[in-house]
Amino acid sequence: MSTDHASWHIKGDSILTELIAMMDLSAEETATLGALQGAARVHAPALLDAFYQRLLSHSNTAEYLQQASMDRLHTAVANWFTDLFSGNYNEQYAKKRLIIGDVHVRIGLPVRYPLAMIDVIMPFGEQVAKTSATPDAAIKAFHKVLSLDIAIFNQAYEDNQLKHLAELVGGERLARLLLSGQG
Ligand code: HEM
Repeated sequence: MSTDHASWHIKGDSILTELIAMMDLSAEETATLGALQGAARVHAPALLDAFYQRLLSHSNTAEYLQQASMDRLHTAVANWFTDLFSGNYNEQYAKKRLIIGDVHVRIGLPVRYPLAMIDVIMPFGEQVAKTSATPDAAIKAFHKVLSLDIAIFNQAYEDNQLKHLAELVGGERLARLLLSGQG
């Protein structure tokens, strides 16, 4: 028996709008995070050291960095981290993050690696949040925006897989049924 789901009918930018709404960030939470952007900039160099140490110490991820411009990557990842504390999490923000996910799709990087890197990013974000006047609220809000990013990163991969499978089998619904083992 095949089942359709309402979520299957949400497409394109509406997916990002849905995810932002699902995180349920209050105005207070976005302001709390926005006040931490300077602190995020201060913590970014230490994050970068840990980030590339983790990627370079594992041969399957180090391989992707051989051809990359490390200066450009350092700046890009530092900005990515600092923007977690931009205090503005609208569709434009989400779209920018989706494009970053898509860059990783296009270099043929399995999604498990970016997902595993949350282990490195999480403690640095929490350190930044702890510098807030309201640390507990800031940590909770930081977890929300990081979860949003994980969802968006993964969405870039799913969009790509669905698109190609839908082209192959002649439709997105059939592709979704196949991916859920119902085809
Ligand atoms: C959550 C984890 C990660 C984040 C936040 C992240 C962030 C970024 C950002 C912001 C860029 C620049 C994108 C652009 O050109 O606009 C980038 C590019 C890149 N990332 Fe990541 N990344 C992550 C995980 C990884 C992993 C696990 C690898 C594996 C080695 C990796 C390898 C690369 C490479 C090679 C590029 C350059 C791609 C190119 O322009 O050819 N990234 N990343």
